[in-house]
Amino acid sequence: MSSMKEQFWAARHPPKNPSHLSFNNKVILVSGANDGLGFQAALKYAQLGASTLILGVRSKEKGEAAKVSIIQQTQCSNITVMTVDLSTFASVKDFARRVNEEVPQLHVVLLCAGIMTSKYEKSPDGFEMALQVNVLSTALMVLLLLPKLQKTVCSDGSIPHLCIVNSLATQEIKPELIPTDNMLIQRLNDASKFDFYAHYYLVKLAARFFVQELATQKSAEEGSRTLVSATALGSESNGKLWLNDELPPPGPFMASQCAADLSPATFQEILTILRQHCDLEGML
Ligand SMILES: NC(=O)c1ccc[n+]([C@@H]2O[C@H](COP(=O)([O-])OP(=O)(O)OC[C@H]3O[C@@H](n4cnc5c(N)ncnc54)[C@H](OP(=O)(O)O)[C@@H]3O)[C@@H](O)[C@H]2O)c1
Repeated sequence: MSSMKEQFWAARHPPKNPSHLSFNNKVILVSGANDGLGFQAALKYAQLGASTLILGVRSKEKGEAAKVSIIQQTQCSNITVMTVDLSTFASVKDFARRVNEEVPQLHVVLLCAGIMTSKYEKSPDGFEMALQVNVLSTALMVLLLLPKLQKTVCSDGSIPHLCIVNSLATQEIKPELIPTDNMLIQRLNDASKFDFYAHYYLVKLAARFFVQELATQKSAEEGSRTLVSATALGSESNGKLWLNDELPPPGPFMASQCAADLSPATFQEILTILRQHCDLEGML
């Protein structure tokens, strides 16, 4: 957790409202769009003129309720609800297939769906649930939607963006939480090592490493098109944390040699698992 002082400061310095931005003529996909940050972001995109909103939600009913609420509050009426359950790779693949088939262009993808778990529970695919939802399934969704983003042309000259909501937690990782064998995904999946406090930090760290490594897979130009940490930033934000209108320097752990080694190792661990569930040929 950030210190009381930092939380107090942040409460008094909310991020600027990006009211200068326009998402006119843009197709925006938000996951976790029925509640919390995802719903508020979807509402804001609608307020900022999004021409089409795709609400990626686990429950059709909750998604439809969010759609009604957004229509009532904004001018945006072109809203599609699509279901996806991140607890299974099959659902992610089905969702991505529908998006790729039914949506001609995709300008912004904002992935907000996520959970915090208090006890060890396995997903239907056999992974610890938060690991599956926040890291593995989210990574698969990113890989399956990237080609559509890369092909999308923005008429205003801007670049398509993809953003995964992460957490300040990655700035505050304590080195003693890090597995010494460089096997972060295996560590997160190990029921005997489950610890509520450490789990959220390490799940967020794994998701951040995935973004960081994926961004380095691309040329600077390609990377800037697809993976930035906020949907209106440029390539300078790739793989970094966008917080309170700033890209803060990495925390002590993220700046360490240990993180530099663990990041690519975690990326490879994630890809090894995803390749067992999906053909990623040509995507990386
Ligand atoms: N709120 C914060 O202060 C804060 C701070 C830092 C980071 N974050 C991160 O931001 C993200 C969103 O947080 P939030 O506070 O907005 O959470 P939230 O209010 O609990 O919303 C989570 C969203 O994720 C969806 N979801 C959960 N499990 C899912 C699954 N298996 N498949 C598909 N969708 C699923 C939920 O759908 P249902 O309604 O159907 O459950 C809901 O729409 C999380 O990754 C969180 O760690 C939040």
